[in-house]
Amino acid sequence: MKTQVVIVGAGPSGLLLGQLLHNAGISNIILERQTPDYVLSRIRAGILESGTVELLREAGAHQRMDAEGLVHDGVEFLVEGRRIPVPLKALSGGKSVMVYGQTEVTRDLMQARSEAGAPTFYNVSDVALHNLKSDKPYVTFSKDGEPCRIDCDYIAGCDGFHGVSRKAIPTGVLREYECVYPFGWLGLLADTPPIHHELIYAHHDRGFVLCSQRSLTRSRYYLQVPLTDKAEAWSDDRFWDELKRRLPQDLAGKLVTGPSLEKSIAPLRSFVVEPMQYGSLFLVGDAAHIVPPTGAKGLNLAASDVNYLYRILCGVYHQGRRDLLACYSQLALRRVWKGERFSWFMTRLLHDFQEQSGFDRRMQQAERDYFLGSQAGLTTIAENYVGLPFEAVR
Ligand code: APR
Ligand code: PHB
Repeated sequence: MKTQVVIVGAGPSGLLLGQLLHNAGISNIILERQTPDYVLSRIRAGILESGTVELLREAGAHQRMDAEGLVHDGVEFLVEGRRIPVPLKALSGGKSVMVYGQTEVTRDLMQARSEAGAPTFYNVSDVALHNLKSDKPYVTFSKDGEPCRIDCDYIAGCDGFHGVSRKAIPTGVLREYECVYPFGWLGLLADTPPIHHELIYAHHDRGFVLCSQRSLTRSRYYLQVPLTDKAEAWSDDRFWDELKRRLPQDLAGKLVTGPSLEKSIAPLRSFVVEPMQYGSLFLVGDAAHIVPPTGAKGLNLAASDVNYLYRILCGVYHQGRRDLLACYSQLALRRVWKGERFSWFMTRLLHDFQEQSGFDRRMQQAERDYFLGSQAGLTTIAENYVGLPFEAVR
């Protein structure tokens, strides 16, 4: 087989890149090791920056998002018992975020791809990347026990943190940066109306809380928990009781509880590799970087990488601008590091760090006081939350 771009991974990164390239007349094949149902069973975050929303519209996978997604012009913080609304739109020059689950984004992109008739091979194994330093790279894999090969011009490694693409780069080429946090998030999804019309990020001595939502009838809540905790040890009743203990009485009184649809614990980690390119291989999304979920940046940074790689490949195929390829890593990483910074900042601002010194605890309080108590502080939070602008590719 032959195509212009092989995309490894049919998560949101691979599917969004594939759709944009297909619409631009650039042929591509996606290879995914799981089944479509498995991909759609993963529950992830649900906040889209305005730039991500625009990109999904550009890809033509926006109809259901625009019909069913909820536009949020604000978000709320709850610290030291005080509720602090952050008017995102007013503070960011008119931008908002969209509440629309990543699972739904993935479903819409899968459907758009199947309607477009672009090829995806699900359930493949043994994906291996070859000749990455040449201009004739190729990818091998097994499908139904049969060995297959695809020759291509470029490979997009969209296969997440545990994928093969990053590992295909020889030792010594990549520099890794990592920060692991000493706690996890226990998430619960329930078909109950959200506690508040906006998201609430709360700091509490017993640990961080996030009150999020997927729709007007589906809520998503998170509690900071020790890494040693197991989700099975958290009955629904225990979760709801702990959530109420970490909320002020007026809010706790509004909480509607119900049976959980899903409950799981996720560790928190910041991770980046540099560079994001090796020869004809380009790393995209979670394959190159991970953020803690506190700033809702995971999917949005993946979309940011897709934005740059898509525009660069359009330049290459439509205008013969092969020189642009060398800009990918720098362009993508500049925005990635800013997203990493915001996620790290939000995580440090709002969680309980048991081991920290008395001085560090006071610093954390002063940071909350300053950032949430001044127009300048709230403005920097707002402009990062709605998403920093993309740079032009030229
Ligand atoms: N061969 C083929 N496919 C693979 C392989 C492999 N060896 N390894 C992993 N994959 C697939 C996974 O099964 C998955 O479907 O690659 C896909 C990667 O998808 P994600 O992990 O979702 O990563 P990405 O598309 O970059 O999405 C960005 O945003 O909110 C965050 O972490 C969250 O998934 C999210 C991410
Ligand atoms: C979610 O709804 O799952 C969610 C929202 C915002 C975050 C993280 C997760 O910062």
